[in-house]
Amino acid sequence: MDFTQQTHTLATLSRLKADALVLVLCGEASAAGLDEATADLLAAARHDGDFEPKAGRTWYVHRPAGLAARRLVVSAAADASPKAFRAAVASALKLLRPLGARTVHIARACGTAEAADRVLLAAHAQAAVLALADATYVYRHTKPSAPAAPTLEQGVLVCGDEAEAAGALAGIRTGLALAAGIELARECANRPGNHATPRHLAELARKLARQHGLKAEILDRKAIEKAGMGSFLAVSQGSEEPPRFIVLRYQGAPAAEAPLVLVGKGITFDTGGISLKPGAEMDEMKFDMGGAASVLGTLRAVAELKPAINVVALIPSCENMPDGRAVKPGDVVTSLSGQTIEILNTDAEGRLILCDALTYAERFKPRAVVDVATLTGACVVALGAQHSGLFTADDDLSAALLAAGQQAQDTCWRMPLDDEYAEGLKSNFADVANIGGRMGGAITAAMFLKRFTGAYRWAHLDIAGTAWKGGADKGATGRPVGLLTHFV
Ligand code: BES
Ligand code: MN
Ligand code: ZN
Repeated sequence: MDFTQQTHTLATLSRLKADALVLVLCGEASAAGLDEATADLLAAARHDGDFEPKAGRTWYVHRPAGLAARRLVVSAAADASPKAFRAAVASALKLLRPLGARTVHIARACGTAEAADRVLLAAHAQAAVLALADATYVYRHTKPSAPAAPTLEQGVLVCGDEAEAAGALAGIRTGLALAAGIELARECANRPGNHATPRHLAELARKLARQHGLKAEILDRKAIEKAGMGSFLAVSQGSEEPPRFIVLRYQGAPAAEAPLVLVGKGITFDTGGISLKPGAEMDEMKFDMGGAASVLGTLRAVAELKPAINVVALIPSCENMPDGRAVKPGDVVTSLSGQTIEILNTDAEGRLILCDALTYAERFKPRAVVDVATLTGACVVALGAQHSGLFTADDDLSAALLAAGQQAQDTCWRMPLDDEYAEGLKSNFADVANIGGRMGGAITAAMFLKRFTGAYRWAHLDIAGTAWKGGADKGATGRPVGLLTHFV
């Protein structure tokens, strides 16, 4: 995919030579400023009852009379917000996707105040790039017979003048970096469990390092044992597939500067282990490495945007399988922190691999640590697919992550972390148990992790509801690459 901008005023839109032209009407007063031919066409469509400028409505015309564009889609947005703009571009692209257009020009018709808002323009540009990337992604790794990729491959944002163009370029650059990161995360998470193994993730990390000037270090089982990650190893011991602990580093600042550490849950398949999951929809547990995928995707985007900061990605990766050697309910293991853990439910494995990674993070003397995990079904019940769950005791970190989510249209919602929520984690046989009661399950899981994060500022993102979609559109979303990249 390719995305650029072109200066061309709305006042002569009918003369724009385009393979396909998408005109987004941002809210009510937006048809003002359009040239006569375009305005007449729209008026006629309204008169004939074919189009109403209401949010979500689209109207497609082939070889529109009086316009130089070969195809025209008019798409109405609820308002001028980046979110509504993105939705309007997405519905327009849905119409264009099966058609023969290669290049799509996207023009915005907003009120005058909004048209002059440069920050909004950059946000619209980013949104347009992400919508096109989303519309053109096709999974083929294990489905070579998938329908041919859409011919649509290039986007152009139409800007009124040079000053606008400069603002748009900034948004396009961010959008392209995000799109590359999101695509990597989707592709990686969509690959089935027998392809996307811990070794495969490690290879992807190595390749990413080679191609984008990052440093990769991979710990194999022996090295993980030597490091003392007893909790991580307990989860992996029921699997024939060897575990990997991936360390990937981006250096954008002097080496002495404290890094931001991102930790991603990399369970490449979660059967539940001896506490076996029911069969229905168990296939979706191949997405249980969505945290790892999003951390890899974020480093891909960061490598392109080159911010002046150091970032370390930590990915504990293994399968959670039932087996003669698998860990059993009631087993007690010793984590890297020295704390002993009674594993009352082997299906609460995410926290068991994350806790060792969180302790490992201490050695980087981080300025902050954010972990990302498809951690609990309870978080899906609480927040659905709209927001990721945000858990932190640090108000500044919380504000930064909430804002980053808004900027990326990849939002999170803060959840409570009172000490009382840790009550259920008490154990008679170890320092802590790996499950509490059923109630408030997403919070109990976060409280478990919190025990391992005393040495630095920390936040946890539960992405169990946002990392993938089920049903007919089953597939990874690439979230929260957008949120994390804006945060970085
Ligand atoms: N990977 C799952 C969480 C999950 C479940 C994400 C369903 C998305 C959809 C995690 O490892 C898990 O199994 N969690 C258990 C914890 C419980 C045993 C305390 C859960 O949520 O049921
Ligand atoms: Mn599980
Ligand atoms: Zn899991």
